[in-house]
Amino acid sequence: MCGIVGYIGKRDTQSVLIEGLKKLEYRGYDSAGIAVYTPEGLKITKSIGRLANLESKLESAPLVGSAGIGHTRWATHGKPSDVNSHPHTDRTQKFSVVHNGIVENYLELKDELISQGYTFVSETDTEVISHLVAREYDGDIVKAVQKAISHMRGAFALGVLTEYEPNKLVAVRQASPLIIGIGEGENFIGSDIPALLNYTRKVYILNDGEMAVLTPDSVELMTIEGNFISREMINVDWDEVTAEKGGFDHFMLKEIHEQPKAYRDTMRGRIDETGRKVIMPELKLTPEQIRNIRNIHVVACGTAYHAGLVGGSVIEQLVRIPVAFDVASEYRYRSPLITPETLVIVVSQSGETADTLAALREAQANGAHVLAITNVVGSSIARDANDVIATLAGPEIAVASTKAYTSQLIAFYLFALYLAEVRGTQSEAEIAHIIAAMQALPEQVESMLANTDSIKAYAEQISKHPNLFFIGRGLDYAVAQEGSLKLKEISYIHSEAYAAGELKHGTLALIEEGVPVIALVTQEAVMEKTVSNIKEVKARGGDVMALTYEEHVADMLKSVDQAFAIPKTLPMLAPAISVVPLQLLAYYASLALGHDVDKPRNLAKSVTVE
Ligand code: F6R
Repeated sequence: MCGIVGYIGKRDTQSVLIEGLKKLEYRGYDSAGIAVYTPEGLKITKSIGRLANLESKLESAPLVGSAGIGHTRWATHGKPSDVNSHPHTDRTQKFSVVHNGIVENYLELKDELISQGYTFVSETDTEVISHLVAREYDGDIVKAVQKAISHMRGAFALGVLTEYEPNKLVAVRQASPLIIGIGEGENFIGSDIPALLNYTRKVYILNDGEMAVLTPDSVELMTIEGNFISREMINVDWDEVTAEKGGFDHFMLKEIHEQPKAYRDTMRGRIDETGRKVIMPELKLTPEQIRNIRNIHVVACGTAYHAGLVGGSVIEQLVRIPVAFDVASEYRYRSPLITPETLVIVVSQSGETADTLAALREAQANGAHVLAITNVVGSSIARDANDVIATLAGPEIAVASTKAYTSQLIAFYLFALYLAEVRGTQSEAEIAHIIAAMQALPEQVESMLANTDSIKAYAEQISKHPNLFFIGRGLDYAVAQEGSLKLKEISYIHSEAYAAGELKHGTLALIEEGVPVIALVTQEAVMEKTVSNIKEVKARGGDVMALTYEEHVADMLKSVDQAFAIPKTLPMLAPAISVVPLQLLAYYASLALGHDVDKPRNLAKSVTVE
């Protein structure tokens, strides 16, 4: 996820771009840059780090001109650096491009361009676009962009500017957001509404497969094939704070709703076109190394650890390699058995968690290969790990992790399938079957998010209780732990997660009349056993809510007080669905209790102390 702005008109272009980027920093902030058409031609200034670094570069050498594009980056292809920052340009430096998204076939295109004599200076997929536009240019920038994107697969929102036609700014949307702002004698582009609100409230929202050509006095909308379209102009009446949250009341709710997109983005480019194979071109781990793995350690903290519980179990199940799980703060102190044949998987949204970083170093010191699953490509953990699988959830602002957790699950599923293929532990047909079910997940989550009223009502009900329990077996137990953590951290209601069969070994003593118990019942192989445990709870007066598939709701209601249906999927993928109502439950309970949802007491987003 990155932020794009663009401007054409009579204002000070540089300051419009910088002000817009400030509003988009939530989309990424590891580097930033702008390109402005100046009297001396197209000029680009960019800098690694926060926007302030770019601003101080521009202070001594401002870019003055009548049109420009800007970008704030969240690294995906290539580490954060000056040279990998956007805008990118071609060898003639007459074209510049800002891009949000991923060009899936960029390696193919890069090889083709190199064979045609083009040279690359960055590691990004975006640089391919600037060379393609330059190659296709024949006096018409709109046609050049259309031709360039006809070669590209993937997700992209683009802003394109050329010195040859400085009166035009071209914008494209293909599976990454982009809006057009309309002014008087000036027009704008932006990844999101907040970037434009200082200047205009009139916007067009582009749909996928559409583009816009802006001059100071006109905006033409068309499909990427060049067919003109008309669109109703929207008048935005959000205040700025609401706008930054995309119209949601809190970042947490926005991020819960961003999960389908995070699933799609994390899968994008990692499943081959036939849908029968996972591809992980980013991995340095060779097939030979993979075949030699003797054991796996999954190490992380908090929510990331809970994602690891699911992911490690799935690897063990599909690949039959023994997996051990550790919270990172304990790992070093139990003298774990690490050998060069141990693969250590560290999981961290921020990539900066001190305990996880220390565990990574311990593992490397003992000769292990360390694979990091992280959301921040330029983070300490990403830099130090031997391999990185980036989750493409975009920046997570709310302290309570939601979309990072679920995209970590997706990364684990992909990696497990990749290992299974290399080690030959699953057939191609079985892998294809799982991939198809994964590809259905975003829509299934969307359907759940379309109606959250019953979860909200239940959250209001449980917010009156001081204690509650989450129970489940197998992967349901792993999700129960995440549901319980989420509820504790933002609603401050005490809860415990228990393996459903373990409750009777002591904790059942705490179940009395009316104590809420949330039972996850998605693992059909152990469903009957979980129902027996639910009956043990009911017999002591517990008030049980079950999360299960529609087809089991009627039966389940014979044993529980309430049941919520979730969309059906494969047992191993159920956590990517069943956790969503639990996130909402925590959110609405916190809201009902009047707490600061996005910034719960005593906690910080990034924990850089041990
Ligand atoms: C809970 C939460 C924390 C983090 C934990 C690890 O919602 O966000 O439990 O998961 O502090 O953080 P990262 O993933 O950044 O290493």
